[in-house]
Amino acid sequence: MMEALRIGDIAVWPPIVLAPMSGVTNRTMRALYKPFGLGLTVTEFVSSNALRYGSKRTMEMIDQHGLEKPVSTQLWGDDPQAMAYAARVVRECGADIVDINFGCPAPKVTKTNGGSACLRDPERCEEIMRAVVAAVDCPVTMKMRLGWNEDHLVYLDVARRAQQAGVQALTLHARTAKQFYKGSADWEHIALLKRSVDIPVIGNGDVRDAYLAMRRIQESGVDAIMLGRATLGNPWLISQIRDLMQGREPQPLPSAAERLRFAIVHYRAMLDEWGEARAVPQMRKHVALYLKNVPGAAALRERLMRLDRAQDAIALVEETISHLESPAFAA
Ligand SMILES: Cc1cc2nc3c(=O)[nH]c(=O)nc-3n(C[C@H](O)[C@H](O)[C@H](O)COP(=O)(O)O)c2cc1C
Repeated sequence: MMEALRIGDIAVWPPIVLAPMSGVTNRTMRALYKPFGLGLTVTEFVSSNALRYGSKRTMEMIDQHGLEKPVSTQLWGDDPQAMAYAARVVRECGADIVDINFGCPAPKVTKTNGGSACLRDPERCEEIMRAVVAAVDCPVTMKMRLGWNEDHLVYLDVARRAQQAGVQALTLHARTAKQFYKGSADWEHIALLKRSVDIPVIGNGDVRDAYLAMRRIQESGVDAIMLGRATLGNPWLISQIRDLMQGREPQPLPSAAERLRFAIVHYRAMLDEWGEARAVPQMRKHVALYLKNVPGAAALRERLMRLDRAQDAIALVEETISHLESPAFAA
C-alpha cells in the first residue's frame, strides 16, 4: 500500500497525477478523469504574461469545475515579477497549488526564454521560484526536464535551488528539451533526483501500463507518478494503477464497446461546456484515441476527421458500438 503524496499540507491520494497537457487538460477533462483515481490534476500551462491581460480564453484555462480538486495551476514565463503576479491571480481564482513550468520544449515558448529554456539559466530559475513562493500562501511546485540538452543536465542543480527556495515538490520528465519526445525517458535520472533532495519527487515519462508504473515507482523510489499520453483514450489505466497501489489485482480494461460508450460521455460533456465549434476539433483527437484497437479503427478515424458536426461524430461512434455488439460481429 503506497502512502499519500504530501505537498505542503495537501495530501494527494492516490499518488497519481494527471500530467498537464496543453489543449487537453481543461476543466472538463480533469473532472471526467479524476474519478478514475487521480489524486491531483494540473491545468494546461498558462502564460504569465497573458494573465496580465486576463482574456476570456486565458481565464477559461485556469477555470475549475470544483469536482476535480485539488487542482494545480501551471504557469510559464521567464520574468520573476510577472510570474509572481500570475501566481497571485491564479491563487485568487482557486488554485490549490501553483506549478512552475521549466519543461516545455515548444519553440513558441522557448523563443521567449520560457518553459525549458529557463533551464539554460539555473540562477534565473531560482529567482522565478523565490518570487512565486513569496507571492502565494499555497504550496508551489515545479516541473522540469533534465536540461536544455544532454551536455547541460542541470536538473539536480535546479532541484536543489528549488528546495532552498521553498518549492514543495518536483516533477521530472526525464528527457532533455532538445529531445522533445524522441528516445525514451531515462528513469535513472529520476531515481538520482529522488536520492538527492528531501522534498517529494513525482516521476514522469513513458509510463504505458500499470505494472510498469509500479516498477518505476519501486525502482526510483518516487513519491508519486505522473501520467500523460497513455491516459488519453484509456483513463482505466489510472484505475489499474490505483488498484495495484492498494494491493489489489487490477480490474481488466473495458471492452471496446464500453470504451466507446465513455467516449460519448466525454463528447457530450465537452459539447455542453465548450460548444460545438470548440468541442468538435478537440474531440477528434480524443475519439481517435478511444478507437485504439477497435477493428477498422483507421477507416473510422478517417471518417471522423471529415465530420464537422458533433451529432454526426457521435452517431458514428454509436454505429461502431452497435456493430461491435451485433451478434454477427460477436460470432
Ligand atoms: C499534447 C501535450 C501537451 C502538453 N502540455 C504540457 C503543458 O502544458 N505543461 C507541461 O508541463 N507539460 C506538458 N506536456 C508534457 C506532459 O506533461 C508530460 O511531461 C509528457 O507528455 C511525458 O509524459 P507521458 O510520457 O506520460 O506522456 C504536454 C504533453 C503533451 C503530449
